[in-house]
Amino acid sequence: MTSLTRRLGCLLGVLSVGTSLVHGQAITTVNGEEVTMLTGTKAEHTTSSIPTNLYQTYTTRITLGTTTDTASSILASVSETGNATDTALSSESASETSSATLSYLTGTNSHSTSTSNATASSTESAQPVPTNTRPCNNYPEFCDRKYSNITEVGCHNSPFVRANSAAANQQLGVVDQLNDGVRFLQAQIQWAKNDTVPHFCHTTCDLFDAGPITEWLTTVKDWVVAHPYDVVTILLGNGNYSTPDFYVPHIEKTGILRYIYTPPVIPMTLNDWPTLSHMILTGQRVVMFMDYMANQTAYPWLLDEFTQMWETPFDPVDRNFPCVVQRPPDLPADQAKNRLYLMNHNLNGEANLLGNVLSVPDLSRINETNSAEGFGSLGLAANNCRSDWGRPPNVLNVDYYNMGDPPGSVFEAAARANNVTYNRKCCGVAASSAQRIEAMLKVPLTLGLIWAAFWTLV
Ligand SMILES: *[C@@H]1O[C@H](CO)[C@@H](O)[C@H](O)[C@H]1NC(C)=O
Ligand SMILES: *[C@@H]1O[C@H](CO)[C@@H](O)[C@H](O)[C@H]1NC(C)=O
Ligand SMILES: *[C@@H]1O[C@H](CO)[C@@H](O)[C@H](O)[C@H]1NC(C)=O
Ligand SMILES: *[C@@H]1O[C@H](CO)[C@@H](O)[C@H](O)[C@H]1NC(C)=O
Ligand SMILES: *[C@@H]1O[C@H](CO)[C@@H](O)[C@H](O)[C@H]1NC(C)=O
Ligand SMILES: *[C@@H]1O[C@H](CO)[C@@H](O)[C@H](O)[C@H]1NC(C)=O
Ligand SMILES: *[C@@H]1O[C@H](CO)[C@@H](O)[C@H](O)[C@H]1NC(C)=O
Ligand SMILES: *[C@@H]1O[C@H](CO)[C@@H](O)[C@H](O)[C@H]1NC(C)=O
Repeated sequence: MTSLTRRLGCLLGVLSVGTSLVHGQAITTVNGEEVTMLTGTKAEHTTSSIPTNLYQTYTTRITLGTTTDTASSILASVSETGNATDTALSSESASETSSATLSYLTGTNSHSTSTSNATASSTESAQPVPTNTRPCNNYPEFCDRKYSNITEVGCHNSPFVRANSAAANQQLGVVDQLNDGVRFLQAQIQWAKNDTVPHFCHTTCDLFDAGPITEWLTTVKDWVVAHPYDVVTILLGNGNYSTPDFYVPHIEKTGILRYIYTPPVIPMTLNDWPTLSHMILTGQRVVMFMDYMANQTAYPWLLDEFTQMWETPFDPVDRNFPCVVQRPPDLPADQAKNRLYLMNHNLNGEANLLGNVLSVPDLSRINETNSAEGFGSLGLAANNCRSDWGRPPNVLNVDYYNMGDPPGSVFEAAARANNVTYNRKCCGVAASSAQRIEAMLKVPLTLGLIWAAFWTLV
């Protein structure tokens, strides 16, 4: 007990550094416990944790040099990094030279460039164009759709996985996430005190350290290498607002830039995005955004998020999920309509931690939140967004993507937004640890949940 008290004191000490707390709210506790999930009597919510920094705007549209030039200069810098790149290259060229495979994807690619002999030659030989049966991002229908015309499930805080702990945003790791169909991964970078490699950490590395970014990015790269018909998007949160120069060498080291998408223009509007086929045939299958401090002059492939994508409210607590632009602030509707957009659907509740009310993921409602339909659901919110903006969100950003009733409902919601049929199995392999987490949720007064209160400040 003394030890518990000491640890709580320690946690509060850490917490008070970066967070402003909300006091004196009317609170309904579920079990009469000190720390528990609440069910909606809040009068006010702490908004201090919404990230913000400078937002970029482009007064003119910049056209980059030819894809060939940019791609080859990037390739040149990556090829110095050794084994990972070499492996990636040989694996990629093996699939690119298989013209039988590629012909299924052609006929829809009007952007073929000189970098892609395979595209050009198979386009010519594909008369008439055969029906495409090869799925792109799991659906043949997606191959000839533009990247901007697809709704994908996104994992909020993808690396924050800790087995048997409620102190995380996801239960299953990034390989399961990708295998199950997630194609958008979000992660926050911070600096760990004693490491020169940046880490993925939640708020600070003292609280939750998911390890060096090179490990997770290498895992993602390996998955991309092994899945030549998939396009994966990564949104890096720049937790320290460091300039990209601090991150880029580490990103390069993973070899993932071999697959990076370099846009033809900056900023990219909806119509500028290529089809998935084009991205697959040109080997540019990883789209990378950074929320703040991106410099597309220096690194055209590290896309500035908010000039090309907007977000609905961060860490939402309102189960009506109003589909409004929160970031970038003051974005005119006509501009919003011409950008990608991300719907944050990681419902937060509030926990009473020794008299302080904190925002945490509302796991008690995860099934409703991740459902394909019904009040508070992912599916309903996506529909509402579609009515408000004329098209569904590009990203449905969720916590615990594998949970739902039934599990997989997040993919069902995305499939409905995309007008395709979801009939895959879900999710992952961690059935036994799932049960243990459920058990933890039913006993809220555990150190695990107290810890959870801190993770969700971001
Ligand atoms: C490449 O891999 C080999 C064997 O795994 C290792 O000995 C070598 O040091 C690696 N080279 C680089 C540049 O990483
Ligand atoms: C395309 O093919 C032609 C002839 O087969 C070859 O000379 C040229 O180098 C190839 N271009 C690329 C970018 O591979
Ligand atoms: C994709 O385009 C179709 C046809 O214009 C439209 O109905 C659908 O809402 C679009 N989806 C997205 C995510 O843009
Ligand atoms: C950083 O410090 C922690 C705790 O002192 C230690 O566990 C970890 O291995 C250190 N990391 C590096 C890269 O030195
Ligand atoms: C992280 O942020 C702190 C405070 O702004 C700054 O002093 C430090 O240089 C930053 N670290 C890096 C690597 O940019
Ligand atoms: C962006 O990069 C360019 C080219 O390296 C550099 O000249 C410029 O100062 C950078 N901008 C910022 C805001 O750092
Ligand atoms: C969510 O639904 C699943 C069935 O898909 C059920 O096993 C689980 O107990 C539910 N969880 C909660 C928190 O209601
Ligand atoms: C949805 O798909 C069906 C059949 O695949 C098609 O008939 C229908 O027009 C599509 N609806 C929209 C809005 O694209």
